Amino acid sequence: MLYGKDLRLRAIEREDIPRFLRWFNDPEVRQFLTIHEPLSRAKEERWFEEQLSRPNELHLAIEVWVGGEWVHIGNIGLHNINLKNRSAVLGIVIGEKDFWGKGYGREAIRVLLRYAFYELGLHRVELEVFAQNTRAIRCYEAVGFKRVGVRREAFFRDGAFQDLVLMDLLASEFAG
Ligand SMILES: CC(C)(COP(=O)(O)OP(=O)(O)OC[C@H]1O[C@@H](n2cnc3c(N)ncnc32)[C@H](O)[C@@H]1OP(=O)(O)O)[C@@H](O)C(=O)NCCC(=O)NCCS
Repeated sequence: MLYGKDLRLRAIEREDIPRFLRWFNDPEVRQFLTIHEPLSRAKEERWFEEQLSRPNELHLAIEVWVGGEWVHIGNIGLHNINLKNRSAVLGIVIGEKDFWGKGYGREAIRVLLRYAFYELGLHRVELEVFAQNTRAIRCYEAVGFKRVGVRREAFFRDGAFQDLVLMDLLASEFAG
């Protein structure tokens, strides 16, 4: 477990899969993600099994302490962990929409970055975000991510090409 102020990150479990399906099939949630096809339980189960054998992928559940119990509100992870370049790609989704905009995203990212920089010894973490996802961009900037470029019209959605913003953060810039 990785602990923050009022949340913790734990390994994802097979029992979480029905929640992933609910989140990732919700149009409001997926408008910010690069998933486009409807997800089936079988596909999610296969994805889960594949992740177990991938050492360069880390997928964690975000849980917050609410009403006397831990509630699973989303997932966060490091992808393409590269131990030569000491880099990784960060991904996060809070699938429970009532928990958006309450500071949990930035807290979860801080907890994961402490692990990435101080335990794994990573040097650089990057991410990509839709240019119109202002909530996410504000959240990432609050943690210290910098905009380093735009992948122009890189993603086709709803009949139009969308810009993707590339952001990154170096270990030396992370305030902890
Ligand atoms: C992006 C996400 C992880 C951010 O987590 P969060 O807990 O909602 O974010 P935080 O509360 O830590 O920070 C959100 C910031 O956006 C602001 N914000 C909240 N609602 C907003 C809105 N509708 N539009 C713009 N900014 C908004 C908040 O005020 C805060 O910024 P501030 O502290 O400068 O005022 C979460 O909203 C989420 O998972 N969304 C759906 C999936 C997604 O977008 N994933 C990221 C893909 S790259």
